Amino acid sequence: MRHFLSVNDIESLPDWVDEAITLKQNPYQFEDLGKRKTVCLLFFNNSLRTRLSTQKAAMNLGMEVMIMNFGSESWVLEYQDGSVMDQGTSEHIKEAAQVVSQYCDIVAIRAFPDLKDREKDEAEEVLSGFAEYATVPVVNMESSTGHPLQALADAITLAEHTPKARPKVVLSWAPHPKALPHAVANSFTQMMKLQDAEFIITHPKGYELNPKITQGCQIEYNQEKALKDADFVYVKNWSSYTNYGKVLHQDLNWTMTQQKLGQAKFMHCLPVRRNVVVEDAVLDGNNSLVINQALNRTFSAQIVLKKILEAL
Ligand code: CP
Repeated sequence: MRHFLSVNDIESLPDWVDEAITLKQNPYQFEDLGKRKTVCLLFFNNSLRTRLSTQKAAMNLGMEVMIMNFGSESWVLEYQDGSVMDQGTSEHIKEAAQVVSQYCDIVAIRAFPDLKDREKDEAEEVLSGFAEYATVPVVNMESSTGHPLQALADAITLAEHTPKARPKVVLSWAPHPKALPHAVANSFTQMMKLQDAEFIITHPKGYELNPKITQGCQIEYNQEKALKDADFVYVKNWSSYTNYGKVLHQDLNWTMTQQKLGQAKFMHCLPVRRNVVVEDAVLDGNNSLVINQALNRTFSAQIVLKKILEAL
């Protein structure tokens, strides 16, 4: 495997999940694999889990880690080919990606969408630019349209807690005051399409995700109906895709409550706004898996880094 850019780069989801669960028992068993290898983590946006879990994963493999808040500390990058750089940009992605590649063996990027121009966001200019011009493998730490490391961690968490071979898993939209990206919901959906599960997406009308991603998925506009007999409920806000990047409404009737959840396990990628997205009783209850999901971020990153190191 060269780059890890999307869920499609997972060669075998069941094998990778099994391997991650085994790795979790003895995280240091491959600590020589990354000796004298460096991963460079470039953040164009904030992070808690991704930053620390990816660093931890690299350290477990014996790697050196360099981290840069690229968005605030580096030069403003230009992405257009042939552009006359007489405005706000100072360095072209062509040079930046090649230069960074000389300092490390793997480069990992976090770059969110600006949610203003769908075509531009879907072009993934930061991630795709690094993938095109870097001379080392590139890892997606959440891009405009996908968060595959989160989806892999979620798959590990599902496998660890599933009560049956074919669980019912519901992805439910929730209200939020800010316009949020589609990346987590997209990658979770792509990952669920690789699972043997009854998978349902529920959201208010107007919040349909990219139909290319949800193609073949069951969509139910009635949240109560969707949640019936669920084993896992994954709650996430996203802004409108059709009315791109807009918050159409913040209907608190879609907030996840203990009563709606019933006996199902609760999942969320974090960070989460309490009593807007989900009520306290759910997060503080025994059926919340959010801390487990965050722990599994280390092992999803470790599996990905291990696969890349093995192929170097
Ligand atoms: N879930 C997740 O990616 O968390 P951070 O944004 O804190 O990295």
